[in-house]
Amino acid sequence: MGDTVQASVPVIEFVGVSKAFGENSVYENMNLTVRPGETLTIIGGSGQGKSVCLKMMIGLLRVDAGVVRVAGEDVAGLDGEGLRRVRRRVAYVFQGGALFDSMNVLDNIGYALREHTAMDDIAIRERALACLDLVAMPSDMLDAMPANLSGGQRKRVALARSIAIEPEVILYDEPTTGLDPRNITRIGDMIKKLQKELRVTSVVVTHDMPTARKVSDRVAMLYQRSFPFIGTVEQIWHSELAEVRDFVHGTLRRTSGTGATIVTEAPHGA
Ligand SMILES: Nc1ncnc2c1ncn2[C@@H]1O[C@H](COP(=O)(O)OP(=O)(O)O)[C@@H](O)[C@H]1O
Ligand SMILES: [Mg+2]
Repeated sequence: MGDTVQASVPVIEFVGVSKAFGENSVYENMNLTVRPGETLTIIGGSGQGKSVCLKMMIGLLRVDAGVVRVAGEDVAGLDGEGLRRVRRRVAYVFQGGALFDSMNVLDNIGYALREHTAMDDIAIRERALACLDLVAMPSDMLDAMPANLSGGQRKRVALARSIAIEPEVILYDEPTTGLDPRNITRIGDMIKKLQKELRVTSVVVTHDMPTARKVSDRVAMLYQRSFPFIGTVEQIWHSELAEVRDFVHGTLRRTSGTGATIVTEAPHGA
């Protein structure tokens, strides 16, 4: 079908986007570009619009003004069938990574494949096994029920489910929130591995600075309803700009209000 994305064409592009909920303006004239194959991390304070940004990418929320293009398609102009097509290419790993509690791991992972493909049970099982392997989980987990998995395992199954349809783009909404240090490290490693092995483009929303540092090619900081600060990890980490420094090196202080806590930079293997 000739839908190979060329290296120069952005995978995702926001141009002059505005979005408000009633009086609550979340974006104003916002621009953002995600390049093929990169991992772009979005950082920003709680409630500022990071999840809204991801939802606009797949048409779960509509923009009020401006254009969102995904793989060359104007998301606003898409009907139900068009949105299905986009969501087949762009996987969204939800905040919380909820699984279907009544389905075992196999059926959770196979769900999108039944929705979007004509694969039979044998092929689905094979794909599910391959996806479990990618997220470093043993094959005997296929029959497990979500209630019997740990938090970290559940996140990894959610990730396996998202990659089962072989998406070109993966959107991660706070993939490490609520996990212990060991699983935070694991999820970060996994994001890197998927980028390398599947060559996917990724957008990661995270509060966790070590994860941001580890996985990102570029970091975009949401500030005053747009993304005025975008750069490589090193540029963002060594930025002289007060707004950026304050956020990157003082996130915990800002979100917990305790005063002097500084986020350590060392992503020690935990
Ligand atoms: N569906 C919605 N309806 C109304 N307001 C919303 C909706 N989704 C998000 N908001 C508001 O938009 C703002 C940004 O939310 P969100 O993107 O979830 O923030 P975060 O950066 O923490 O992910 C918040 O003020 C939130 O209350
Ligand atoms: Mg959010």
